Amino acid sequence: MVNRSFPQHRTSSTSRFLLRKSSPFAFSLCLIFIFASSIFVFFFFCARNVLEDEQKPLFPEPEEFPSHSHAKSEQKSVDHLWDAPSSHGFHPCVKPTSRYGAAQTSDRYITVRSNGGLNQMRAGISDMVAVAHIMNGTLVIPQLDKRSFWHDTSTFSDIFDEHHFIKTLRSDIKIVKELPKELESIPHARKHFTSWAGFGYYEEMTRLWKDYQVIHVAKSDSRLANNDLPLDIQRLRCRAMYEALHFAPPIENFGKKLVERLRLRGGRYIALHLRYEKDMLSFTGCTYGLTHLEAEELEIMREKTPHWKIKNINSTQQRIEGLCPLTPKEVGIFLQALGYLPSTLIYIAAGEIYGGDTRLSELSSRFPNIVTKETLATEEELKPFINHASQSAALDYIISIESDVFVPTYSGNMARAVEGHRRYLGHRKTITPDRKGLVDIFDKLEKGQLGEGSSLSDHVRRMHKNRQGGPRKRRGPQPGIKGRARFRTEESFFENPYECICKSKQ
Ligand SMILES: *[C@@H]1O[C@H](CO)[C@@H](O)[C@H](O)[C@H]1NC(C)=O
Ligand SMILES: *[C@@H]1O[C@H](CO)[C@@H](O)[C@H](O)[C@H]1NC(C)=O
Repeated sequence: MVNRSFPQHRTSSTSRFLLRKSSPFAFSLCLIFIFASSIFVFFFFCARNVLEDEQKPLFPEPEEFPSHSHAKSEQKSVDHLWDAPSSHGFHPCVKPTSRYGAAQTSDRYITVRSNGGLNQMRAGISDMVAVAHIMNGTLVIPQLDKRSFWHDTSTFSDIFDEHHFIKTLRSDIKIVKELPKELESIPHARKHFTSWAGFGYYEEMTRLWKDYQVIHVAKSDSRLANNDLPLDIQRLRCRAMYEALHFAPPIENFGKKLVERLRLRGGRYIALHLRYEKDMLSFTGCTYGLTHLEAEELEIMREKTPHWKIKNINSTQQRIEGLCPLTPKEVGIFLQALGYLPSTLIYIAAGEIYGGDTRLSELSSRFPNIVTKETLATEEELKPFINHASQSAALDYIISIESDVFVPTYSGNMARAVEGHRRYLGHRKTITPDRKGLVDIFDKLEKGQLGEGSSLSDHVRRMHKNRQGGPRKRRGPQPGIKGRARFRTEESFFENPYECICKSKQ
């Protein structure tokens, strides 16, 4: 009471004073007072905002992307190259809202066969957690893909910490290790859920419970829409992906050990997802810089792989459109143009590089301080992981998440997953090459129309100023694409889960 009336009282008495005497002294006193009270009001609202912001996503309302132009004008120091794009108090926020319904105990079961490589499966499993929640079903620990060309016999508990997964999600859904024996022989509904389905679709699917006690889901990838889902469902996806789906202790511990070894070698490091492997080049039809024999080998591989639908690819056209992974040589030019010193420690997160050491030397000639799993660890240490593609990929994943800078040379599932996870952890730096723009530069270099040096460097830096993994909303569908096909062109939820990232004001 006293507090509230105080400013009012002061104002009126001051103005009376001002009217009577109207001296310059009184006038400035009045100004000082107005200034002081606005500071008071300002701090009052600030303090309130901090509290309210705790659980608000980064972009609660539709709004324009924040511009990055406020970033202090180009600092030329090398340190700047390692700074996060925006390090002002971003943090994960995945708590449910007050409207969120807790887990139901349910005697209806959902079994899942998860398909794809490690990161496609991780995203798919996280989505299935959300689907089980929407449908009020008990989730049975998913079966992993053993058939795809990843040829990995690992089970869920070989790759993930099963106990932690079940425990972390216990207030969201019930998860069991196996389908109860007595339900194995009864008829199951076998469902291919539609791709990128919304909340309403899965509510509608609960009608299956009338006839079935068990629903088997044949594929888990992209079964849930990226956008237009309730905030609580988006946050559940994040809880599943980032909080519940931890790697099994042997993988987690060994991954951490490799990160420690990298830190001992040089302190800071770049994790380079050099997607220059045989299967990727064959799939994308990118033969730039390869010998005729190599190009032929890749074409034959593409012909022979039935699930790669596009067989005839014009490599030149593909490259001009920015649809090819950067070559080791191009990566070298790129990183150098960004300003990284030749002594920079670079961890290569990838499988076998096509063309082996010969091709890699086109990068190591500029950046000799290159390491891989194989140079960081002994053969003996790698033995348990190396014949399991998914476990090997998990090690690369851990090292990429922990790196100071992450650079993917192509946009695959791993690149998307790592970029999104790094955003979630507070916008750690991810430099996404503008491949289309870079190809134009590389070709000019090749033709001698351009030379390497400070003007090229300025140009490349400007091109990538807003490609550092800073806060923004997800990109929508490509313009001009109609119908359900547009979902395919949207930025995926797990590439930029902005609903799960909050900004506190300190
Ligand atoms: C799930 O169960 C809750 C509580 O029993 C109920 O309110 C809700 O409608 C159910 N959801 C569906 C999709 O059946
Ligand atoms: C491939 O694309 C390039 C660039 O668009 C074009 O110049 C070339 O003629 C094409 N090659 C074939 C075989 O179609």
